[in-house]
Amino acid sequence: MTKLTDAETTRLHPETLALSFGFDPWLSEGAVKPPVFLTSTFAFKCAADGKRFFAWAHGEGTPPPRREQGLIYSRINNPNLEILEDRVALWEGMKDAYSFSSGMAAIATTLLATHRPGDEMIVCAPVYGGTDALIHHFLKSFGVTAHFVPAGIDAPALAEPLINPRTRSIFIESPANPSNRLTDIGRMKELALRHAPVDPGRSCGRILVIVDNTMAGPVFAQPAKVGADIVLYSATKFIGGHSDVVGGMALANDDALLGAIAQHRAMLGGMPNPYTAWLLTRSLETLKIRAEQQQRNAQQVAAFLVSHPKVRSVCYLGLLTPADPEHAIFQKQHTGPGSLISFYIHGGEQEAFAFLDHLKVFKLAVSLGSTESLAQHPAAMTHSGLTPGDKLQWGVTDDLVRLSIGIENPEDLIWDLKQALEQV
Ligand SMILES: Cc1ncc(COP(=O)(O)O)c(C=O)c1O
Repeated sequence: MTKLTDAETTRLHPETLALSFGFDPWLSEGAVKPPVFLTSTFAFKCAADGKRFFAWAHGEGTPPPRREQGLIYSRINNPNLEILEDRVALWEGMKDAYSFSSGMAAIATTLLATHRPGDEMIVCAPVYGGTDALIHHFLKSFGVTAHFVPAGIDAPALAEPLINPRTRSIFIESPANPSNRLTDIGRMKELALRHAPVDPGRSCGRILVIVDNTMAGPVFAQPAKVGADIVLYSATKFIGGHSDVVGGMALANDDALLGAIAQHRAMLGGMPNPYTAWLLTRSLETLKIRAEQQQRNAQQVAAFLVSHPKVRSVCYLGLLTPADPEHAIFQKQHTGPGSLISFYIHGGEQEAFAFLDHLKVFKLAVSLGSTESLAQHPAAMTHSGLTPGDKLQWGVTDDLVRLSIGIENPEDLIWDLKQALEQV
């Protein structure tokens, strides 16, 4: 049993609670760290318990708080998943979270849980290539129409005329991947609230603001505080943080939305395995110190790149000035610029590839948010599935390189970038 009262718990910071919250050592032989509950199924003390637990899992009756509902089967609930979910919800300041086997599983399950054939979405582009493909191809064939508007300061004005009674959601990645463009989540929420309910009978029956916060990570931005109804993560990135695990998260405050996500996760089976959840929980303990060191390094790397003659322009939140239209959004939505930098090199694919091929400390690999620095070419890699027109419109051109800055010594990173740029 924790010695902390509920009131004491609420005054503690997430980085403190990340070490203990949601786990009672006395239920596990006094173990200080949660064991891995590698079991597919859980024994009921009596048949009546089994009946009750199933009814609650189906949303029937008056269920007690989720953590008291009883363990059934690891596709529905498991202690490792619940500890992870409790702690991620704490970081976001949100009511509850569900973990998934990947970011795409979180996104796909959430969109299926909240949309029906005939619904429309507004999507602030660019979005991650996998999300783009999901929306353009799978959801389209399922009868959901998406309207794309460019992420950035004008997104709310461009979105408003597209809203109609079939609009179910506004989907935002802010900062957008890979452009680092910011969209004003609060203004999108105002839009969502100003328009008539989609169908008051549906879970949270109005236009939903759904934010993929993978790029900022939970340390530097908490989208629900500025209006997001649902926050999504590829936990593979900053939450996992070591490029050794793939996972995802979906968070919400509204009980009906949480229930819909839970039901769809159980039906579609996209939960993580207990060991994945355990690894992600372990990583949460160092999330803040990793993210802060990565940010300090990125600030130095961005300052180096911006003055390099072979670099045409740098997209990094830390370079926004009050003269930039998105600066005000940054101040509202972020507590730090994070560690993702995209930059345009003078030239095209040939120059970008020459630079990437000469890196020695940076790994030439997709993904982001990990302890090691990574570099990749969005047009040929993460965003290769976009149409040529979309690539041009969203700035995913052949001269664009994306860097994810890790925790190495920043002098070594700058040395590496310098020597690779000299080879171009
Ligand atoms: C912004 C963003 N969202 C979602 C995803 C998908 O996550 P996962 O690879 O964990 O399925 C990614 C992956 O790169 C991403 O960058």
